Amino acid sequence: MKPTRRDMLKTLAGGAALAGCGHARRVAQAAKETAPEPSGPIPKPEPRIERFERLAYGMFIHWGLYSQLGRGEWVMNQEKIPLDEYKRLRDTFTASEFNGRTIAGIARRAGQKYATLTARHHEGFSLYDTRGLSDYDAVQSPAKRDLVAEFIEGCRAEGILPMFYHTTLDWYHPDFGANFDAYLDYLHASVELLCTQYGEIGGLWFDGNWSKADADWKEDRLYGLIRKHQPNAMIINNTGIHKMGQVGHPEIDSTTFEQGRPTPMDRRGMPKYISAEMCQTMNMHWGIATNDYNYMSPQDIIENLCACRKVGANYLLNVGPTAAGAIPDYERATLERVGQWLELHGEPIYNGKPCGVAGPGADFGLDAGGTLYLFVHHIRPGHGQQPGEAAGPGPRTFEGVDRTVSSVTWLDNGEALKFEQKAQALTVTATGFPYGTNTVVRVARVS
Ligand code: GLC
Repeated sequence: MKPTRRDMLKTLAGGAALAGCGHARRVAQAAKETAPEPSGPIPKPEPRIERFERLAYGMFIHWGLYSQLGRGEWVMNQEKIPLDEYKRLRDTFTASEFNGRTIAGIARRAGQKYATLTARHHEGFSLYDTRGLSDYDAVQSPAKRDLVAEFIEGCRAEGILPMFYHTTLDWYHPDFGANFDAYLDYLHASVELLCTQYGEIGGLWFDGNWSKADADWKEDRLYGLIRKHQPNAMIINNTGIHKMGQVGHPEIDSTTFEQGRPTPMDRRGMPKYISAEMCQTMNMHWGIATNDYNYMSPQDIIENLCACRKVGANYLLNVGPTAAGAIPDYERATLERVGQWLELHGEPIYNGKPCGVAGPGADFGLDAGGTLYLFVHHIRPGHGQQPGEAAGPGPRTFEGVDRTVSSVTWLDNGEALKFEQKAQALTVTATGFPYGTNTVVRVARVS
C-alpha cells in the first residue's frame, strides 16, 4: 500500500522510525558514546538569519516545463523521457496565466512572508533571462518574458520577500556529466545573474549537491559571489530527504528539513547561529501532478506550521502552478484559509521563540517579545494525535514557566482560563471550542 502523508511524516520525524530498529539503535548508541556533548555558548544570529526566522512561513513555488505534463517535476527522469523529446516542451511554454503580483498576493493573504521560486529546476530550464548563457530559458520560449523579473516585481508590490530556488544538478546541460568544471562556471555565472539583475533578494536555496556527493562543488566560490553581491541574502543548500537538519558548508545560513518534522537544534558551541526550515508539498509532488489527490487540509497545515515554530523553524509550503502558471484553486483556497487563522495568531507565530516551556504531547509555549503564548492541541480529540497525548478540554500542564502568571486568556475569544502555578509548572484548564468555532490549535496568552 502506498504510504500516506502521515506515514511519511512519521517515518521522517527526526529518524524516529529508525530508532525502533535494533541496528539503528546500536549505531545511534555508539555515536552517543563517542561524540562529545555540545558545549559552549549559543552564538547570536546574524541580522539576515534573525530576519529570516521572523518571516516564519513562506511559499515554495515549483514551476517549469514539467508543469505542462502534470506528473511532477521529476517526470523527465522517472519516465526516462529522452532529452530531445523533453526539450520540445520549451516550444509550448506560454506562461499565459503567470502573474507575479497574483501569486505574491495569494502568499500575502496566506500569511506567508517570503516566496521561493524555482528559477531553475533539475530539468535545466530557466525562468529567467540567462542573457546568452543558455538557449533554454523563458525569454526563448513562446512566453518571451523574464518570469523571474515579474515574480520579483509582484513580490515587491505585495511586501513578500523573494527568494530563488536554484538547482545545482542539471539534466540538460551537456557539461554536467562530462565537464564538471565548465558546468560549475555556467552554474556560477547563472547565479551571478540572479544576484545582480533583480535588486535585493532574500536568499538562494540550492538543491542537487546530493546528486554528486563526492564532487568538489566549489562552494566557496559560489557562496563568495553571493556574499559579494547580496550580503543580506540567506544561503541555503538542501541536504535532501535522507539528511535532514545536517549542517554543511560554513556559509550556509539554514538547515533544511525536506518533508520532515524539524527537530530542535542544539546550537551550543556552533561557530555561527544557523536557522532551520522545513519544506513540504501540499500533496505528494512538488511540481503539479494532476492525478495526485492526496492533499493536506488547512488543519494539517496549521498543525505543521505550529510544529515548525515549536522548535523555532520556518515552514516553506509548496504550490505547483499549472502549465500556464496559475496557482490551482484548491491550493489557493487552502492557503488563504490558513491565512485567516494566522490573522488571529500572527504575533506568536512570527515573533514567538522557543523558551523552554513544554506542554504535554504536541503542546508547547513560545515567548514573543517577553509575552508567553501557550499552544494547545487536540481540544477536540482526533486528528494527528499520538497515543497517550493529552486531548479534549481540561487541565494541561506546561513545565518550565519561570514567570509569575496573573492571567491566561484565549487569543481567539479573550476568555480567561483557570490556572494554577506550582514552581515552574503552570496548569491551565483548557475550555472547549465555543459552538460555531474550531481553530485547530488554540493559543492562550499568558500575562
Ligand atoms: C528534492 C527534489 C526536488 C524538490 C526538492 C524540494 O530535492 O529533487 O524535486 O525540488 O526536493 O525540497
